[in-house]
Amino acid sequence: MTVIGVTGVGSIGARHARVFGELAGVEVVVHDAVASPADLATRLGPVVRVVPTLAALLDAGVDGLVVASPDEVHAEAALAACERSVPVLLEKPIADTVEAAELIAGAATATGTPVLMGYVLRHVRCLHRVRALLDVGTIGLPVSFQVMLGAYETLQVARNRFDRSGYGALFRDYSHEWDYLRWLLAPITGGFALARAAGTLDLMQDPNVVDVVLRLADGTTGTAHLDYVQSPGTRGFTIVGDRGTVQVDVPRGEVRVRRPDADETVEYDVESRDDAFRAQAAHFVAVAARTAEPVVDVADGLAALKVADALRRSAMQHRWVDVG
Ligand SMILES: NC(=O)c1ccc[n+]([C@@H]2O[C@H](COP(=O)([O-])OP(=O)(O)OC[C@H]3O[C@@H](n4cnc5c(N)ncnc54)[C@H](O)[C@@H]3O)[C@@H](O)[C@H]2O)c1
Repeated sequence: MTVIGVTGVGSIGARHARVFGELAGVEVVVHDAVASPADLATRLGPVVRVVPTLAALLDAGVDGLVVASPDEVHAEAALAACERSVPVLLEKPIADTVEAAELIAGAATATGTPVLMGYVLRHVRCLHRVRALLDVGTIGLPVSFQVMLGAYETLQVARNRFDRSGYGALFRDYSHEWDYLRWLLAPITGGFALARAAGTLDLMQDPNVVDVVLRLADGTTGTAHLDYVQSPGTRGFTIVGDRGTVQVDVPRGEVRVRRPDADETVEYDVESRDDAFRAQAAHFVAVAARTAEPVVDVADGLAALKVADALRRSAMQHRWVDVG
């Protein structure tokens, strides 16, 4: 039996608790600093064990800890787990500050504790398909890209989190996009962001519309659009190569390839949102058993946070920023 602890049982923590609980041979123990044990038991069902503190969670013999609490307490939980060499699945962003993220990265390295970052797109099959297409040179050398993300729904389902967010939550919330660009193409080394609070929707964030120009380490350039406006939401990207173009619609699991010397191809691999979380959970069980290395680790988490913060700075200062 593998015991998985979850600290922070809000909108995403409850999903983790449910998804891990559905895996064969996994027992889930949870802790939340605010929600009462009775409330958690009602929400999650009697099969989930509830403990009153983070310390009690780590004392419960957990083989792995999922940190799904607010960004500002990620470090406290991750450091406590590293101290006991308990592998961590750490929700994004890695922490609320680069300094806290560096502490986590240092502790993970010093104690040899595996930390899997919760960049769940790394477990989405159509993105793996793109990775494979790029690896075999289907579109030649990537020269440019365009990212599109629209997610008004996020403001509707995660209201607690947005009650306390300051300027620029969008840059960090969708650091998923910075992470997958690093994975599929190359690290982001600089960018220029224009951002504003636009429109008259009931739920607003500042900004709720972000448009950025990005430069990658290998010289590739591209753009990314993020918003908390579009409903239904959308997530996708285009990568332009010198021998073809790949276009991806993530919710539809659609991968479209256009090349000068062949007919257009369209593949569909439709997944529910839970599928990627299930794949992530199964991978984390292997990480916790030390039979797999995290496919996305603290270095990736730190890199994505640095990009998010640099772009936020760019938007505030109206200037190009390098990602340091
Ligand atoms: N990977 C993804 O797709 C994804 C999606 C949503 C959220 N997230 C991340 O997950 C984290 C939680 O987001 P959410 O939307 O579930 O927020 P939320 O506000 O719905 O849930 C946070 C929970 O943590 C609890 N909490 C507060 N302080 C705590 C502490 N010190 N220790 C333990 N629990 C504490 C709160 O009571 C709440 O139940 C954030 O870091 C967020 O960025 C990731």
